[in-house]
Amino acid sequence: MKIQSICCLGAGYVGGPTMAMIAAKCPGITVTVCDMNQQRIDAWNSDELPVYEPGLQEVVESARGRNLHFTTDIRAAIAAADLIFVCVGTPTKSYGIGAGRAADLRYIESAARIIAEVSEGHKIIVEKSTIPVKTATAIQAILAANSSTGATFQVLSNPEFLAEGTAVADMENPDRILIGGEQTPDGQAALEALVSVYANWVPREKIITTNLWSSELSKLVANAFLAQRISSINSISALCEATGADVDEVSRAIGADSRIGPKFLKSSVGFGGSCFQKDILNLVYLCESFNLAEAAAYWRSVVTMNDWQKSRFVEKIVRTLFNTVSGKRIAVLGFAFKKDTNDTRESAAIHIVRNLVAENAHVIIYDPRVPVETIHRDLLEVGVPQDIIDFNVEITSDPYTACSGAHALATLTEWDEFRNLDFARIHDLMLKPAFVFDGRAILPTATLKALGFETFVIGKGQ
Ligand code: NAD
Ligand code: UDX
Repeated sequence: MKIQSICCLGAGYVGGPTMAMIAAKCPGITVTVCDMNQQRIDAWNSDELPVYEPGLQEVVESARGRNLHFTTDIRAAIAAADLIFVCVGTPTKSYGIGAGRAADLRYIESAARIIAEVSEGHKIIVEKSTIPVKTATAIQAILAANSSTGATFQVLSNPEFLAEGTAVADMENPDRILIGGEQTPDGQAALEALVSVYANWVPREKIITTNLWSSELSKLVANAFLAQRISSINSISALCEATGADVDEVSRAIGADSRIGPKFLKSSVGFGGSCFQKDILNLVYLCESFNLAEAAAYWRSVVTMNDWQKSRFVEKIVRTLFNTVSGKRIAVLGFAFKKDTNDTRESAAIHIVRNLVAENAHVIIYDPRVPVETIHRDLLEVGVPQDIIDFNVEITSDPYTACSGAHALATLTEWDEFRNLDFARIHDLMLKPAFVFDGRAILPTATLKALGFETFVIGKGQ
């Protein structure tokens, strides 16, 4: 089966960029990305894309209007497609059974229902959203029970491994593409059809094919392993601070062992992003569901360590500022969960700012890409009252304004531009002693010390 027309449900951080890449690499395939969110679709059709990713604008512009289309007409797009990617959100369930851990699959279910309703003939349905193992069974059941036209379906799993901030490079040159399918002739035919789409630019040996359940589970496990490394090194950062060891030196020393490897060993204020915590909690819930209490507790501890890393950073600030930040101005540089993205979902900064204002601090935030409304929404969502946001939180478009009159400066995102700020000017602008809390270990500590700053760097003993 040769794929000529692709539709994607969900025009978010995954659907938009991945489909733009497929369209750019496969000019012979029509790719239609749809979403019920009109504002998002309008943004994808404009010069102000809803997702900031280095290089993405160019990829979108190379194919948009040619074989890449963004629309809210979901039904027409499904009807016209041979293959349908499901890229809808799968957030942590906030209610009922499994609240706080299980994945909320309501968007997956609504996508399956509309596909069943609209489809005719044969369609390949591809799970690209991150979902619990065995979700394909639920999708198959919904499709089978709701199609009135006699349409037939094959469900594949094709999890996405891109990281935000490097999405374009990750998609252009992926470590691997993972595709799981049913071990039947029809399942294998569908799988090969999807393989041939990626084979337009990905070497065949990088395309791993498995059964459905291995593919579904591998996505959760990959994220759990990556997050586990960060929690492991963050646990050691605390020990480094207590002993005089330097966590970056420890990372380098252990990462040089080829069995360990150097990546994902950078200590920080804690991992954020829409995936890690959600996917680990989902894995914990899966383990619990299969009565594997010890396995569940093991993975839960990765999130516990991350929560501790965020809260101990705030405690460090409060203790260092003579045990009170009440009424003090704290400049926060960076609100996104990592550099080169405008995404703030689960950003450590949200929790750190919330805990600082809970101590009556006055927080002034600068981030080069995150809009004011996003910061307000995030703080409201974690329970900061509107009047506290109005009085205790300022957002500025200039890092020097953020530091003006500040008692302390905290770096929470590793934006490159923070490394090259005029620190002499910042020192002049701040109250003395001028404290710096470098939550990403990116600032030039020796220069800061020479200028007279009191510095704390995550994972560095004094
Ligand atoms: P997102 O919230 O940015 O986008 C999801 C979009 O789906 C929303 O715009 C929503 O309106 C739309 N949607 C919901 N139901 C729909 C329906 N029935 N039809 C059409 N559109 C519908 O989410 P995201 O960050 O793109 O993540 C999507 C999935 O990919 C999640 O399962 C996530 O875990 C996974 N994932 C995310 C990343 C990442 O870096 N963000 C990486 C890998 C995997
Ligand atoms: C992650 C996975 O990397 C990606 O494969 C998957 O598809 C989606 O989830 P993402 O969350 O976009 O990607 O970014 P990632 O680079 O993994 O960073 C996640 C968080 O970990 C960020 O807050 C980042 O600052 C933090 N991090 C990362 C560290 O604190 N230390 C590190 O060494 C690496």
